[in-house]
Amino acid sequence: VGGIPIVTAAADLQLATRFSVLACVTSPRVEKEISDALVPFGYKVVVVHDGRVALERVKGEPKPDLVISEVEVPTVGGFELALAIKRDPHLRIIPLVLVTSFYNLDHKLKGFHVGVDDFLYYPFHELELRARVSSLLRLKHFYTRLQSEKEHLDELVRKRTRELDRLNLGLISALEGANRLKDSNTGNHIRRVSEYSRVLAEAMGLDGFDAHRIQTYASLHDVGKIGLPDHILKKDGKLTPAEFEEMKKHTVHGYELLRDAGMEEVAQNIALHHHERWDGRGYPHGLRGREIPLEARVVALGDVYDALTTRRSYKEAMPHADAREHILELAGKHFDPHLVDAFALVEDRLVEVSRTFDDADTGRA
Ligand SMILES: [Fe+2]
Ligand SMILES: [Fe+2]
Repeated sequence: VGGIPIVTAAADLQLATRFSVLACVTSPRVEKEISDALVPFGYKVVVVHDGRVALERVKGEPKPDLVISEVEVPTVGGFELALAIKRDPHLRIIPLVLVTSFYNLDHKLKGFHVGVDDFLYYPFHELELRARVSSLLRLKHFYTRLQSEKEHLDELVRKRTRELDRLNLGLISALEGANRLKDSNTGNHIRRVSEYSRVLAEAMGLDGFDAHRIQTYASLHDVGKIGLPDHILKKDGKLTPAEFEEMKKHTVHGYELLRDAGMEEVAQNIALHHHERWDGRGYPHGLRGREIPLEARVVALGDVYDALTTRRSYKEAMPHADAREHILELAGKHFDPHLVDAFALVEDRLVEVSRTFDDADTGRA
């Protein structure tokens, strides 16, 4: 080999490991050639003479880094061996080279079909054998490294996401708590509106993840009430027009609070737009139709349904059937007509929620 650059897998990959090659051969000459080509260059070569034994070795531990097999070997032939290795997700990464003494296109096609990585024809040049082995090992090495880096990154992302979720939930419940402290009349209103919003979001075809987000942030829809003076928030009876103008500001206060806290847009939209109306006659911006973010349309319906069906300081609770009638009439006026259709489809689930979280709620807005 003098003068020709020597391909050694170990030097190539700059790894201290000795690569182990499992050779499944019956011919002593093939066995010798493989050993001569690889052993002096740092490879460990284990020779077996039977396909079944080779397969046991591959399935056992430690696994070979690469398998070379003759096509014709006892019990489990080269093709079967390839099929068994390549079909197994835990073994498929191990490169397999088939060795045969004559060129046969059918063999070759069949081999590639079952996942053979390379073919070598006997008699082979030892340099070629080593080069093929080295390049297959290099590929395997990079693939494995990529996989493990990907797994590492995935795990990191999962960990960070869990941390963020925890922080976010902590922030949400702190704000909810502040909201409750300030607005003693809130009662289970927050809880019910959240649940209604989830049920309605699902009925609108949103997936579980988005429905859950809307449910979570719906609990903050009135958080801006923290910014309202007590004489308005705790007033018995109807508000004067001037007081109502002040009350409307809870949407903007809430939006600003959530925006400044770095809460995601879904949360901000719910706080800002849950009093908008489909016909554009809502507040604070008078948005109409689909200009109103879906999450805000959903919470708006849940909020009004809850206001209707619970007792307030200035009115009695309305039975579900009447509230339903009222909401159906408001389709296309106050509410997104598609959302009202969805509401009618899931009304039983809404009634169920109202029973589960029933209380003497006298909250407002
Ligand atoms: Fe509100
Ligand atoms: Fe509300």
